[in-house]
Amino acid sequence: MKFDTPAGTNPIDAMTVVGRAHDRVDGPLKTSGRAPYAYEHHEVAGDQAYGYIVGAAVAKGRIRTLDTAAAKAAPGVIAVVTAADAGKLGKGKYNTVKLFGGPDVDHYHQAIALVVAETFEQARAAAALVRVDYARTAGRFDLDSALKTAPLTGGDSDEGSGAPPVDRTGAFEKAFAAAPVKLDQGYTTPDHSHAMMEPFASLAMWEGDELTVWTSNQMIDWGRGDLATTLNMPKEKVRLISPYVGGGFGGKLFLRADAVLAALGARAAKRPVKVALTRPQMANNATHRPATRQRIRIGATRDGMITAIAHESGSGDQPGGSPETAVNQTKLLYAGKNRLTAMRLAVLDLPEGNAMRAPGEAPGMMALEIAIDEMAEQLKLDPVDFRVRNDTMVDPEKPERRFSERQLVRCLREGAERFGWSRRNATPARVRDGRWLVGMGVASAFRNHINYPSGARVRLGRDGRVTVETDMTDIGTGSYTIIAQTAAEMMGVPIEQVSVKLGDSAFPVSAGSGGQFGAANATAGVYAACVKLREAVAQRVGVNSADARFAGGKVVSGNRSVPLTEAAAQGELTGEDKIEYGGLDKTWQLSTFGAHFVEVGVDAYTGATRLRRMLAVCAAGRIINPKSARSQVIGAMTMGVGSALMEELAVDTRFGLFINHDLATYEVPVHADIPHQDVVFLDEADDKANPMKAKGVGELGLCGVGAAVANAIYNATGVRVRDYPVTLDKHL
Ligand code: MOS
Repeated sequence: MKFDTPAGTNPIDAMTVVGRAHDRVDGPLKTSGRAPYAYEHHEVAGDQAYGYIVGAAVAKGRIRTLDTAAAKAAPGVIAVVTAADAGKLGKGKYNTVKLFGGPDVDHYHQAIALVVAETFEQARAAAALVRVDYARTAGRFDLDSALKTAPLTGGDSDEGSGAPPVDRTGAFEKAFAAAPVKLDQGYTTPDHSHAMMEPFASLAMWEGDELTVWTSNQMIDWGRGDLATTLNMPKEKVRLISPYVGGGFGGKLFLRADAVLAALGARAAKRPVKVALTRPQMANNATHRPATRQRIRIGATRDGMITAIAHESGSGDQPGGSPETAVNQTKLLYAGKNRLTAMRLAVLDLPEGNAMRAPGEAPGMMALEIAIDEMAEQLKLDPVDFRVRNDTMVDPEKPERRFSERQLVRCLREGAERFGWSRRNATPARVRDGRWLVGMGVASAFRNHINYPSGARVRLGRDGRVTVETDMTDIGTGSYTIIAQTAAEMMGVPIEQVSVKLGDSAFPVSAGSGGQFGAANATAGVYAACVKLREAVAQRVGVNSADARFAGGKVVSGNRSVPLTEAAAQGELTGEDKIEYGGLDKTWQLSTFGAHFVEVGVDAYTGATRLRRMLAVCAAGRIINPKSARSQVIGAMTMGVGSALMEELAVDTRFGLFINHDLATYEVPVHADIPHQDVVFLDEADDKANPMKAKGVGELGLCGVGAAVANAIYNATGVRVRDYPVTLDKHL
């Protein structure tokens, strides 16, 4: 189905199942431990052996000798695999750095060997016996010094939110120089780790020249293609299965070392082999969100109209990598005739940087929304009013492009009302509650919506059950549930009558899970397949599909009404299709908006910050399931608290690694850190986005939260911190 004109009225609009809060259909399986994750597919292949990855102990250099004799002789060891044994390996399209290193080492903890043994403990013990002699060479590990000579570089994010190296509209420098009120400030964000709960894990099994890998991956088709490329084999011979994913946050968008090494280990051991990264390996073996150094300049008239705005960002990555596109939102969020965005990319020999939840906007909004707060203060304007004053209904760089839907002002106004924003004291450090200095902060939320083609197959069984098959993944987000809702609405059956099968490359290729594009695109693909199935049903019972309605388990046309079980009695019916996009997103700017409000208390004696209240108001198209969408947003707000207050990969610039590579030292919020969170969705149905009229919402919940927390801390204390995380040493 080609989506190239705005959606008219369609069966989803009935909203009998879609748009209602449904518990997760996979909830009972998950809470009872019966949903198998990658490391737990005990049922599918007998005789499984355990692989343990040996990671490089230097960040840059060459392996002189790699002695595996002692490891091979250790108890229980079946095989030891090195890159030298593996033959020539290709490099996947989505990988910047080789997943199996040696003799050259590109980063710390790059996989250089796999030990396969009968038990995990034997593999781990033997891995410690692998002797490696390295010739270490100097590496580039310090972002600030590397940025001094870094070139301007465009971003080509795999999640579709790229930006050119430099973009100009009007004459920024001139307008900025002439502006009566100005801000010119620097902001920094550190490297972040995805720190997802389920580690990277894969189980590989060969049958002849065919490979099956049970893995934990967000994008089945990307992973399948890149695994085939890496192993120099035809894509058709590779099957990837990933029905449940315990969090990804962008780290599992791509093929990683666990899958490649499990496949190589299984080949060497002639048995199924499973490999998981240990928690300490995850920070340095896998990808991370790159640190940024950002500069923002804003010029405005005395009455608070922005006349000039510039956002520059610098980040680093391995050779061939991409910049963190932290300038993305500044291109679209506020009005202003004279504009500049620019990005620099330094070469670093730290582990590969790549997408992490809301890549670009998440760190970009952390900076921009402090800058807006600072500017409002200079202008003596309420920060809500300053934002409202500079709202725009068109792309400020291309005024002929309108936003398909944009309710930023309503989000801000309604949020202010609900949060009691009028009680905020605009003068910092004036509100005291016992030992707590109390402050409120606000930030806009913004994240683009991305269209991706997405396919599905829907079957109507003779028993009247509807089964959906697509390689879409559920990374904890609720895909199973919203896909079941979509099929139930389209086929007119109760949700209990729908089975959803996901995460298998044997199924039609979907959009996958990433960049908050999964829910809207995957359900739109299911919609398209259901249209086909409805046609097949109508044809079978001899009615015109155009005026057939599907409701109450029946197809109804004129005065004919046929139960679906009767329609399918002579044999199962199938509909398969994919949603494809015909360029409405070129005519219209598809984005999602929100507002975050935060109240903090800062301990007047210790400087410790405690969240007191949080509210997000979101406008992001039709909300397919308000319950799972709310869970997405409160999860994102929690992640935003982490990035505001504690998350930071500490770079050891001498040895070139992230030194706090475990959850004891890479701190993320726990329940005790999170107070009352409220989420409100404004009514919206975006007919320019897709037939579901839905857009993404998960990452929107993250974008802006960090700045709202930082702004609240400023309001509480009067100390402006521009370097995240806002730890107590920075504002004491
Ligand atoms: Mo997204 S960066 O895959 O959470």
